Amino acid sequence: MDTAVVFNASVGTTDFLPLEGTDYVEFYVGNAKQAAYYYRSAFGFQPLAYAGPETGIKDRASYAIRQHKLTFVFTTALKGGNPIADHVYKHGDGVKVLALKVNDAEDAFNQTTQRGAASYLEPVHLKDEDGEVVMSGIHTYGETVHLFIERKNYNGVFLPGYRKWDTPYFHTTDTGLLYVDHCVGNVGWNQMNKWVNFYEEVMGFRNILSFDDNDISTEYSALMSKVMSNGNGFVKFPINEPAEGKKKSQVEEYLEYYDGEGCQHVALATNHIVETVMDLRNRGVEFLQVPTSYYDNLEERVGKIDEDLNPLKELGILVDRDNEGYLLQIFSKPVEDRPTLFFEIIQRKGAKSFGKGNFKALFEAIEREQGLRGNL
Ligand code: FE2
Repeated sequence: MDTAVVFNASVGTTDFLPLEGTDYVEFYVGNAKQAAYYYRSAFGFQPLAYAGPETGIKDRASYAIRQHKLTFVFTTALKGGNPIADHVYKHGDGVKVLALKVNDAEDAFNQTTQRGAASYLEPVHLKDEDGEVVMSGIHTYGETVHLFIERKNYNGVFLPGYRKWDTPYFHTTDTGLLYVDHCVGNVGWNQMNKWVNFYEEVMGFRNILSFDDNDISTEYSALMSKVMSNGNGFVKFPINEPAEGKKKSQVEEYLEYYDGEGCQHVALATNHIVETVMDLRNRGVEFLQVPTSYYDNLEERVGKIDEDLNPLKELGILVDRDNEGYLLQIFSKPVEDRPTLFFEIIQRKGAKSFGKGNFKALFEAIEREQGLRGNL
């Protein structure tokens, strides 16, 4: 019997925190100008907006970039001794804000703080000549936060405080990345259920899938994971916790190098994974490789798929099937020197799951990298 996968029934009550999706992901980084350049050139984002001393923001510089529905913001401190500089000193470059689009940011704040969320930002009304954005925020795992963004009365390019950013000097084509599919958090030993409860009770999410260490273990290491989804399924946050193995779990390595809990990977959706990954690879994005033996019996494992096997094999794209269809996915290597944040590129063809059938091959690939770093 497969005890690991648990589909919970819907809670069935009205959604007290209706979310319209991910608004943006904000990274605190050591050098926002260069990070924005990397994501533009390597991932194919376009410049969108800038905030800094020239726009009246004195302590930081922020660059917003966009590709289809995907918006990333890179923020750096202009001096030491402030929360942004402290965050980068402790964690290295990483995800600070998972911003969620709402219809009513005051209500989102009240609903969640009444249910026990710690306030990060009391509702503020940000105005400029393009209208008003209401923003509020709560803390989640580690030093990561959720901001609620209400922009229905705003017509500006991004947010008040930002000005349109464009440059005549450097343009790239997009790589077909469309939107955030899910964002995964790594939490400490025995902390997974605490954060599962947080997303259930404070944010009205439900646990749609669970994986225990029998699902996610290799010869050496293990982890546990539970996938939390909001009511309409637009926002999904899997939560990982390390599990005992013969050697160090990849989640432990992350916790050590990030110096605490944080966002492990952001999954980016595409409708053309072969083209997207080929493009990303040509631009210098590095991906984990599975042994070519992974493809030997692929069709026996996952059934007939539309794609040619050869490009999948060449690029190292993984395939998995569930009751509703299949998915194609691949994982980048960490995108900074600390072995912390990485990206997943995912194409869903009906499947709503997360590639359970690939966990073993994938984690063995991660462990080979961990071994090379001397951290296994
Ligand atoms: Fe993922």
